[in-house]
Parts: sequence; structure tokens; C-alpha cells
Amino acid sequence: MAKQINIIDAKNHVNETVRIGVWLTDKRSSGKISFLQLRDGTAFFQGVVVKNDVSEAVFQLAKEVKQESSMWVTGVIHEDSRSHFGYEIEISNIEIVGESENFPITPKEHGIEFLLDHRHLWLRSRRPYAIMQIRNELIHATHRFFDQEGFLKFDPPILTANAPEGTTELFHIDYFDEDAYLSQSGQLYEEAGAMAFNKVYSFGPTFRAEKSKTRRHLTEFWMIEPEMAFMHQEQSLEIQERYIAYLVQSVLDHCQYALKLLDRDPKILEKYTKTPYPRISYDEAIEMLQKNNFDVKWGDDFGSPEETFISDQFEQPVFVLNYPKTIKPFYMKSHPTRDDVYLCADMLAPEGYGEIIGGSERETDFETLKQSIIDAGLKPEDYDWYLDLRRFGSVPHAGFGLGLERAITWICHLDHLREAIPFPRMINRMRP
Ligand code: 4AD
Ligand code: MG
Repeated sequence: MAKQINIIDAKNHVNETVRIGVWLTDKRSSGKISFLQLRDGTAFFQGVVVKNDVSEAVFQLAKEVKQESSMWVTGVIHEDSRSHFGYEIEISNIEIVGESENFPITPKEHGIEFLLDHRHLWLRSRRPYAIMQIRNELIHATHRFFDQEGFLKFDPPILTANAPEGTTELFHIDYFDEDAYLSQSGQLYEEAGAMAFNKVYSFGPTFRAEKSKTRRHLTEFWMIEPEMAFMHQEQSLEIQERYIAYLVQSVLDHCQYALKLLDRDPKILEKYTKTPYPRISYDEAIEMLQKNNFDVKWGDDFGSPEETFISDQFEQPVFVLNYPKTIKPFYMKSHPTRDDVYLCADMLAPEGYGEIIGGSERETDFETLKQSIIDAGLKPEDYDWYLDLRRFGSVPHAGFGLGLERAITWICHLDHLREAIPFPRMINRMRP
């Protein structure tokens, strides 16, 4: 029997007879030839069935097989320079495995709500395929990067009593006789990890009860949160820009086919592989906005239009440094010469994608931190363990959080985060 391969490996089997398990995505037939668009999850390519070269039964099957039927196809791989993929299969045999009738996602256009209702089936299409390939690359590139940099992967709990990022967006759950929340951020635990293992990172799901419908917010998203002992904010910024440049370079190195399917120009992405990235202060950003007729004053947080305007002034991701204390969380470290701002930065992505990273140096002083916890309306006794990190050998440390779906949305040039995750969770969507 012919060797079983995946479509993605076709390049290694040119002129060989192979067998591939596939689904039909689309087809076109004339009297003498059928073109079957096939996918096996690893890639998409075309199968050609020529009437004169196959049995009558096989040619009939090729004409009648319906969208998303699964089958074994056997045939010879050829180069096909006209397609994105570059190879096709000249089919000699077809065996149906599972039939399919009236597949709801047809090659015509569908509305987004319909597609999201059928997300479990929509995932089989080219666009989700390409996005998930890039998501996968970013996941693996993240582990490679932090491994090379000597970080230990350190998993924070998902069930927690802490609210590091504000109390308004918590998902509350009953934890036996206690109140608990789904984690908004693993950061506080990463700080404990950094004191134990020096450089750590987490990569896991985080939850925020975002009540507004925006293209930048999910209620469940994945975050990468590195935390580094004996490191100051400036060193953290250097790691952040190297990390993002590494992610983009990895996509360029390994995802050219996915980028083609998404019609994403690699030339644009190449600009983001050059570091350093520009830095401006929050004060400068406010001034820039005011000069351009934005109705903002010092102390305001930025919404999407403001972030988009700021990032549009730069060709690369840009750091906005030192935000007012009133709009940032309690754990950040005060600026050494200013009382009103923290030693923190957000990284804004180009092309209007807004904040992808939030990070800061952390407060190291026990009394200052305790007061900030109280001022944030939180109970110090819930943070006793966190305050312990300042009791026993407190050191300068800094860290940051990258939202995976924000990074994907930007790199793939999508217009909404909902396509960047297999099954998006938003205020009005929990199914499928
Ligand atoms: O800026 P945030 O809230 O920072 C933190 O959570 C810190 N504890 C991180 C740290 O210093 N360890 O969130 C970090 C990033 C944002 O920049 C954004 O990319 C993403 O997480 N993010 C979201 N992504 C999708 N949906 C949401 N609702 C998000 N909220 C934040
Ligand atoms: Mg933020």
C-alpha cells in the first residue's frame, strides 16, 4: 500500500504515490476532469481526477462527493506553481470514510455571527487554519525565547483570592465556603516565583469580566507574564522589544504559507524585527494628542482612538512610559523623581492595534506597598503572602504581560480578537 503522509509533507514526496486522509472543501468538475480542493488540517491543496486515468467508479465518486466528506485519496504528488501551496495530487483512487451532507459553512460569504455560532465547523476553513498556525508559532516561539533567556516556566493558580488588576472585572466563584475568583493575572504569583527562581514566566488563561463589547477584549484570554529579580524597568523594556521582535521573526521564518492565506504582507512585518523600539512618555503622548485636537487631559486613560493615533505616529511598536498612578494598579513602583507617575510602560502595536503589553517595575517597600493595597480598596490580609516577598530579602524586580490574542490579531492583521482564539468568550458569547 502507498505510504501515508500529511499534505504539509507533500514537498518531500514529489513524483511518489502516497495516501492521504482528507476532507473535501470544494470541487469543480467538467466532463473529463474533476478538481477537488482537499484539506487534512496540515494544509490545503488540490486533487486532480482525470476520467481517462481512473476507474469509472472513482470518477463518479469524485463528481458526487460532498463538502466535508472524509476520504482516503491515493495518487502521485506533483508541483503546482500556480497555487499558494505549490503542490497537488493526481488522484488514482478514492475511498470514502465518512459522508457529509449540507455542511453549513459553504464557500460563499457568511455573516460573522453565523460563523461564530458554527465555530466548531468554521475552524476547518482556510482563514482559521492560517490564524491557528500563527497562534501555534507564537506559543512555541515564546517557550523557545524564554528558555534561551534562562527563564523557568512557573505556573500560577487559576483559582485565587487576589484581584491584581482591579475589582470590577472579576469572575466570582464559590469555593466551598469561601469567595474565590478566576485569575485576572498570574503576576503576583510570578513575583513569588522570581524571588525563588530569579527569572520566571507564566503562560496561561486569564479571565476578566469585561462588560463592554470591543474588538480588543475577550473575557477569557491567554497571557504570557515574565517576572525578573534584580532587574529594573529599563532592562525589562529591552527584553520586551527583543521578545516581540523574536515572535515576529519566528512567524516570518515558519509561517509564510499562513501569511499568504491571510494576504498579510511580510514586508510590513519585517519592520517590526528591528530593535530598539521608540519610547515616549505619557506626558509627551498627552501633548501629542492635545495638539491633534483630542479632548484629553493629563490623568486620563487612553481609549482605542488615542492609542491608535499614538501608534500611527511610529513605524514600529512604541513604548508609552510612566503613566499616572491614578490609572494603574497598586503593585507598580513609584518613579524615582516624581510622585505622580509609576515606573511602568505599555507597548502599543502599530497599525492601530493598541496596547499589547503592560508592564512595570514593582514596588519593593513593605509599608508603601501595604498602603497602596489599602488605597486600592483591597484587604491587606488577603495579600499577606504577597507582602512577605517584601519582608524577606526584597529586591528590585520588574515584569510584564503580553496578551497572546492581541499579538495574534496584530500580526495577522485581523479586525477583532475573536478570530485569534479557537473558541472566543465574550460578554454575549459562551457557545460553542
Ligand atoms: O495591562 P494588563 O492588565 O497587565 C497585567 O495584567 C499585568 N499583571 C501584567 C504584568 O505586568 N505581569 O494586561 C496585560 C495584557 C494587555 O496589554 C493586553 O495585551 C492583554 O493583557 N489583555 C487582554 N487581552 C484580551 N482581552 C482582554 N480583556 C485583555 N485585557 C488585557
Ligand atoms: Mg494594561
